[in-house]
Amino acid sequence: MTAIREFALQDLFKFNRIVFDQLTEVYSLEFFLNKFLKYPFLSEVATAPDGQIMGFLIGCRIIDSDNRVGDTKHFDFNNNHGHVSVLSIDHRYRCLGLGTILMNLFKAKLDLKNDLFVDLYVRRRNAQAVRLYMSLGFAIWRELPRYYRDDIGYEMRLPLTRDVNRKCLNQPKSKLGNLYSIGHQLLEMPMNYLVRLMNALCSLMMK
Ligand SMILES: CC(C)(COP(=O)(O)OP(=O)(O)OC[C@H]1O[C@@H](n2cnc3c(N)ncnc32)[C@H](O)[C@@H]1OP(=O)(O)O)[C@@H](O)C(=O)NCCC(=O)NCCS
Repeated sequence: MTAIREFALQDLFKFNRIVFDQLTEVYSLEFFLNKFLKYPFLSEVATAPDGQIMGFLIGCRIIDSDNRVGDTKHFDFNNNHGHVSVLSIDHRYRCLGLGTILMNLFKAKLDLKNDLFVDLYVRRRNAQAVRLYMSLGFAIWRELPRYYRDDIGYEMRLPLTRDVNRKCLNQPKSKLGNLYSIGHQLLEMPMNYLVRLMNALCSLMMK
């Protein structure tokens, strides 16, 4: 029997076998702690009767900076949404519907918050995951050419109950967004090299 519960800090010591899957994103401890402390109720884990982790989902909420939340007359003005940072199922328990259960639970929690949509990033070549997301109602919102070091990224979005007109799937009206992301990538590349250079220098000096 499978039990679904909130992700607990001690689960971080138990999920290595799952995280080492090549299609699962690995993040720093700081990243995980940040998510759990801010949104403890949005990360879920499925466990087997012996307590082993079968799969997990790490999620969070992105709150619209335009702070109009709480005014029930203007709920439609905010862009608040959920974001799935990691979803991974132990390979022994795949194709049993666990991924679907964890995603549906996450979606239901965000519906209760009256959020607009859920989004996530996935590798283009990750056919199983793309198929799972499509089966849940996600659509590819945009392609991000250099999102992953080894692949193109898809940003996928799932409209929630509030988004009756599937507004979240509209493309940005101007090209400014695209220009911003190209500019961001151009800036990021030299920064990455600089950080690597600094790391190399530091380790040389430590020797
Ligand atoms: C992608 C992943 C989360 C799917 O989890 P899962 O529990 O196996 O998914 P489900 O059993 O709920 O499957 C639901 C749907 O996903 C698709 N799917 C899942 N596994 C599939 C496979 N091996 N081949 C083809 N489609 C697959 C199918 O559409 C399936 O529906 P169906 O059973 O009616 O055909 C899991 O394979 C995994 O952990 N992969 C490695 C990590 C990863 O890629 N995470 C996503 C990164 S964004």
